Amino acid sequence: MRAATLLISLAAATFYIARAQDPESSLVFSSIEPAATVVETPPEAGVKLFTEETLQITDEVVNELLTNEETAEYADLFAFADSTLGDEGSATSQRRRRRLRRQQSSGCKSTPGDPRWPNAERWDVFNRLLGGALEKVVPIASVCYPNSEFNNYDAAQCAKITNEWHVDRTHADSDSSIMFPLFYGETCVQGTDKTASSACTLGGYSSYSVHVSNVAQIQLAVNFARSSNLRLVIKNTGHDYNGRSTGKHALSLWTHNLKKIQYVPNYTSSTYSGPVFKVGAGVQGFELYEAAERHGVTAVAGICPSVGVFGGYTSGGGHGPVMQLFGMGADQILELQVVTADGRFVTVSPNKNSDLYWAMLGGGGGTFGIITSAVVKVHPKIPVTTSVWSFTSGPVGPEVFWEAVKFFWDEMPKYNAAKTYSYFTVIRPFPGFYVFDMNPFFATKMTVEQFNSLTAPFFAKLSALGIPYNIETKYHTSFYPAYQATFATLDFAIGNTGSTPGTRILPKENWEDAALRNATFAAVRDAVDKALLIQGYHQAPSSDVTVANSVNPAFRNEAGMIIAINSITDMSPAGLKAGNEYFTNEILGPIREVTPLGGAYGNEADISEPNWQQAFWGDNYARLLSIKQKWDPTGLFYVHHGVGSEDWVVQDGERGVQTQDGMLCRV
Ligand SMILES: Cc1cc2nc3c(=O)[nH]c(=O)nc-3n(C[C@H](O)[C@H](O)[C@H](O)COP(=O)(O)OP(=O)(O)OC[C@H]3O[C@@H](n4cnc5c(N)ncnc54)[C@H](O)[C@@H]3O)c2cc1C
Ligand SMILES: *[C@@H]1O[C@H](CO)[C@@H](O)[C@H](O)[C@H]1NC(C)=O
Ligand SMILES: *[C@@H]1O[C@H](CO)[C@@H](O)[C@H](O)[C@H]1NC(C)=O
Repeated sequence: MRAATLLISLAAATFYIARAQDPESSLVFSSIEPAATVVETPPEAGVKLFTEETLQITDEVVNELLTNEETAEYADLFAFADSTLGDEGSATSQRRRRRLRRQQSSGCKSTPGDPRWPNAERWDVFNRLLGGALEKVVPIASVCYPNSEFNNYDAAQCAKITNEWHVDRTHADSDSSIMFPLFYGETCVQGTDKTASSACTLGGYSSYSVHVSNVAQIQLAVNFARSSNLRLVIKNTGHDYNGRSTGKHALSLWTHNLKKIQYVPNYTSSTYSGPVFKVGAGVQGFELYEAAERHGVTAVAGICPSVGVFGGYTSGGGHGPVMQLFGMGADQILELQVVTADGRFVTVSPNKNSDLYWAMLGGGGGTFGIITSAVVKVHPKIPVTTSVWSFTSGPVGPEVFWEAVKFFWDEMPKYNAAKTYSYFTVIRPFPGFYVFDMNPFFATKMTVEQFNSLTAPFFAKLSALGIPYNIETKYHTSFYPAYQATFATLDFAIGNTGSTPGTRILPKENWEDAALRNATFAAVRDAVDKALLIQGYHQAPSSDVTVANSVNPAFRNEAGMIIAINSITDMSPAGLKAGNEYFTNEILGPIREVTPLGGAYGNEADISEPNWQQAFWGDNYARLLSIKQKWDPTGLFYVHHGVGSEDWVVQDGERGVQTQDGMLCRV
């Protein structure tokens, strides 16, 4: 890589330090300019870098900091892990020793007051090098708390937040809010007017957020976090089921604004030749789907419009309504651009850093590096027939209701073989009454007639059982209108404090043998009686895909998936512990027992998933761990139940379930 233009020369900048009025920060660096240079697209990248990716820091940029008298003191904080910054001079061995000592992360990550926690001057220098992109985190609902430390009470803003609290985008569009409040210690939740000053504190929210708009900022943050022993967090949308996008006292990187989507009709590499998108890491499902429609192609993402496609989704595997045709989300990725734990910016592909390529596609988000963009396959336009229907046990009673659901269950392999997908809910609103809600059945590449003939035996069964049903079936000429008419309209009702979901990937074997199929169904039926609700999918990723990545092998043998959602009402530590244990053992336990060849989806996991390494990655785990140790030897990246997280613990006291509201320490 060659530094083409040294965009900003710190040495040249007039630089002065003045006494500030603010006693909090005794120094003001009023003329530090953003640190970055323009680096041309490295030749190994198949598609040119986005402009924001060409803005990087290099050894030269860090050296500029060192050679300037006033910044020299801070330069080490921004040096790359492998840097030999200033090692040639005389007073250097001391500097080198100091730098190496800084990078050793033993004990706990820094907390305010620790010697290595950056003082106000350091935060200020950091912010100026970032070009002012650093923000102190303020919980979004703090506007509802008249006596909080944030001192920002605003009744009108509070009404708005309260009204929109359960809408996913409220949190996806925030630099710090996540969708499962349990994991930041339920501080400032729900936007209710609570007057105690303790009702709204920072809790398990990250402390600072970098509003990322270029690669240089990510590199500066990675080097600064490593040198200052800070906990580092990546927040894209905050969808993660286990609170992996927040952390107490953390420096957080908010990737939401990396929104570019570029269509390349004729990409060629050793493994693929055809149309692709190059997409920024902040692109969400609804944006990707919309762009695909515009370019006359089909793209792979999830069912919820606001899930970030190239943050957690593809990193963890990624299931969705066209996986039966084109494979999983991770299977679409041809290249990634990544900032690694040493601060370097690298291309990751089957030919470059191929171990990372394997690990980062399936091995989980927030673990191996920070993705800034991806090159992703797109596919021909497809027609879709969608069908939405529901029935209840009302007219016929529970036993006949379950006979109908069992018939549907038994048909699932046939629906998979026909390369269709569905998402349904089974719920018991009150004892003795059940609802089955298909919303929707997604019959890709099918006409209404083909859909009708595929499902005719099921609807004949409903009629024979005397079960009335409402149904609406519609043909769409492409994916986007089909998606807009169905998945895009669903209410995902996030933001509930006592909500703990978990999953099980159900293998094909569990349909092949009638006795095992019955036992599996019995366990699912039992879970409906015990859980708040059960979401089900008939889904099987295309087996035509022959990519090598670390996606949970259980997906490759999948016939369906279950998400169970529990609702805990007693939020005391003892109540949460008992509620979550009941969920893990009594609701999911029996399903786990009948599916020994199945697994759990790390992206939609029970916070207390037992034996999670095996459940999320099966036989891939050992290799994932060795790649993690190679690329992140100091443990810069930590997420709950991520690869290598065995070495760490969040000391949150006794909360009943593991939250992120505590110090991150080595075990
Ligand atoms: C309502 C809802 C619907 C969902 N639907 C689906 C679905 O249909 N299919 C499916 O497969 N999953 C689905 N999920 C799960 C979803 O895939 C995960 O929550 C996923 O982790 C979200 O990724 P994100 O980047 O949007 O979220 P975040 O919570 O912001 O991040 C998730 C994880 O990825 C890491 N990360 C984020 N950005 C980056 C980056 N640039 N580089 C490296 N790491 C990064 C974070 O550190 C964190 O560990 C759903 C979740 C919810 C709540
Ligand atoms: C791809 O298409 C562009 C624009 O249509 C063209 O300039 C380029 O040469 C093509 N590349 C290949 C490899 O065919
Ligand atoms: C499975 O259950 C059905 C009833 O749903 C029953 O008729 C059948 O005999 C059972 N099969 C086995 C092998 O247990």
